[in-house]
Amino acid sequence: MKKIFLLLSLILSILSTIQGQERILCPTPPMGWNTWNCFNRNINEEQIREIADLMISTGLKDAGYTYLVVDDCWQTHREDGVIQADSTKFSSGIQNLATYVHSKGLKFGIYSCAGSETCAGRPGSQGYEYIDAVTYANWGVDFLKYDWCNNNGANAREAYLTMSNALKSTGRPIVLSICEWGTNKPWEWGKGIGDMWRVSEDIIATVEGTTYWGGGSIFKIIDIMTPLWPYAGPGHWNDADMLQVGNGNLTYDENVMHFSMWCMLSSPLMIGCDLRNIDKHTLDILTNKEVIAINQDKLGKQGRMFERSGKYHEIWIKELSDGDIALCFLNKDEKEWILDYHFWGFDIIGLDRTYDRYIVRDVWKHKDIGDTGDKYNFTVPAHGVALFRLTPKQ
Ligand code: GAL
Repeated sequence: MKKIFLLLSLILSILSTIQGQERILCPTPPMGWNTWNCFNRNINEEQIREIADLMISTGLKDAGYTYLVVDDCWQTHREDGVIQADSTKFSSGIQNLATYVHSKGLKFGIYSCAGSETCAGRPGSQGYEYIDAVTYANWGVDFLKYDWCNNNGANAREAYLTMSNALKSTGRPIVLSICEWGTNKPWEWGKGIGDMWRVSEDIIATVEGTTYWGGGSIFKIIDIMTPLWPYAGPGHWNDADMLQVGNGNLTYDENVMHFSMWCMLSSPLMIGCDLRNIDKHTLDILTNKEVIAINQDKLGKQGRMFERSGKYHEIWIKELSDGDIALCFLNKDEKEWILDYHFWGFDIIGLDRTYDRYIVRDVWKHKDIGDTGDKYNFTVPAHGVALFRLTPKQ
């Protein structure tokens, strides 16, 4: 009897280890909204409750955006080692805020840093990983963005593994968003530790060049993401950083291009604009279900560039489930790209599966335009894209 009991508990523990290893919190890239790109350090609980309400009333939640993440500057000090929220800006406390966010059917995210201080100089989690993880779990946190400032020479893999283990030990499923800007190639070690990892310095709302030193323009981040496609897949995503759609002086075509490419790249989609004054164009871009479906496709393959002509013109492909293919023409030039294109061109890149013919659908125009047997003339706007979904013809 004792032997049977021992055997049974051994099987159970093996099964739970296997399950633990296979636990995938983000089978598709996480989608949500984050405070940093628009509010920066100026955050408070009223604003965040308002954003939670707006995520519902604007239709963003219905479009798939579920995480509401409070970035840096919610915290001020520790008491007996326990991290404390700013008592004037978050007077009801983080737990109440999380409860409010949950009551809207959303998930709640928070920010900390693997260093002794965050990038904005607030207390970091170095040396407090387990106590912080338990605090977050008690508050009802579902997502942790974990930064890399003031790390005091720590080893990145070890630092993120420590927090990963701390979060797992709470028993609460908490997504770990690794934010060490790609400095230590997290794509090589992040799988199993975190659910996503940043690959670049902070995104800025500009297509090329930088407005301040070190910022990642949209084209620069696309270039960094380009060779990283083998590292992405269900549960482990390359993170091209939070969206700047609707911010700065990006044109309509630039916003469409930015969003399309983040979808082609299977990047997490974390909105970064102020929902209190979002305009219709921006909302239409962010809620385009056909484009989101390319990002959220369950196959989880990151798009690849298969052709570059000259300096400015690129053709991208993303394999989708059920044999569909997303095909994106990216024009980095300041003038339009006029194409006379035969879709068979993509045949050369050695897809696993090819069919005789595909129906071609323009997912921004929401229109089937013909099939791959035809030749097409179309124009890709300056700093813009043309994005198609190809479906095998029966
Ligand atoms: C940066 C991070 C940003 C933001 C900021 C907060 O390191 O990349 O996304 O979180 O810190 O201070």
